Amino acid sequence: MSDDERNVSGKQKSSDPLDHALRPRFLKEYTGQEQVVENLKILIEAAKARKEPLDHVLFYGPPGLGKTTLSHVLANEMGANLKITAGPAIERSGDLAAILTHQRAGDILFIDEIHRLGKAVEEVLYAAMEDFALDIVIGKGPAAKNVRLKLPKFTVIGATTRLASLTAPLRDRFGAVFRMDFYSLDAMEQIVARAANKLQVEYDEEGVHEIARRSRGTPRVALRLLRRVRDYAQVRADSVITRAVADDCLSNLMEIDELGLDNIDRMVLETIIDKFDGGPVGLETIAAAISEEADTIMDVYEPFLLQLGFIDRTPRGRTATRAAYKHLGYDYHWPPEQGRLF
Ligand SMILES: Nc1ncnc2c1ncn2[C@@H]1O[C@H](COP(=O)(O)OP(=O)(O)OP(=O)(O)O)[C@@H](O)[C@H]1O
Ligand SMILES: [Mg+2]
Repeated sequence: MSDDERNVSGKQKSSDPLDHALRPRFLKEYTGQEQVVENLKILIEAAKARKEPLDHVLFYGPPGLGKTTLSHVLANEMGANLKITAGPAIERSGDLAAILTHQRAGDILFIDEIHRLGKAVEEVLYAAMEDFALDIVIGKGPAAKNVRLKLPKFTVIGATTRLASLTAPLRDRFGAVFRMDFYSLDAMEQIVARAANKLQVEYDEEGVHEIARRSRGTPRVALRLLRRVRDYAQVRADSVITRAVADDCLSNLMEIDELGLDNIDRMVLETIIDKFDGGPVGLETIAAAISEEADTIMDVYEPFLLQLGFIDRTPRGRTATRAAYKHLGYDYHWPPEQGRLF
């Protein structure tokens, strides 16, 4: 199954038409991530009081937790223009120069997947972020000249699922760096209920709870599961999302267990436990064993399994924890040699 077909993947799918309508637009509509929101409020207020553009902001964390959404929120709160681009889309430094010269004072440039910027492009970005200047070379050969163009003060918002892949100099250019965490169950329930209201579906509290607790603390997953349960309720039940309806749809039809794990998560865990005796086993090896990409496992599956405490990352690879054995119904026997003489 490709990641795009996975229902519990936090990754964005090509067609999420309702996403736009469901997106919180201002901080006061934003549920969860209280720590981040509190910090952003201060950042915004301070910038407004100084009549300056917002400091450069970096959001990092697993897919689907609201990095893009918060960037839109920041632009709305600041009343600023938002230009959206992504690391892989800026191939040459000339592409970035073109974008930067079109920025006006106070504009916000959102760079998604910022860890995927090329080296040459990154270097142009350093000067732009630090000195609001663009260094360009005019002409070729011995006659070439370095020219420094002044840029208006603007803001860069970067988003990445991989902080570790960001170069240190780039990371240092951000005045504020925020880690997005998985949402609490309480926040997830509010998000599901709010979306259900917007979609005008009938539900009861337990139905919402059932969807929320299987959404792996990820709003994008919650919204996706909600739509599937809504369809199911419409076709198989009398259009009301109750606990029984949600449970039936999620457990039986979609095979998502009560913790939000799907077949692929279970395959990852079973591979470590069954084939590699609990680990440690390298990510690439796990990926090959279940025909998935190592990158996908690292970005999408692993963060939640780590959060649940089902796997551990050690220098020699991944290991399955006692909790994982228990959840899957295996007897815990790792490490096998412990307590034995031979
Ligand atoms: N706090 C929230 N309340 C309600 N809905 C939210 C919240 N945060 C995110 N969402 C919804 O979840 C979905 C995913 O959010 P978003 O696109 O911002 O994630 P992301 O972190 O940028 O993901 P990616 O890493 O894949 O780019 C969106 O449809 C958004 O409307
Ligand atoms: Mg995004």
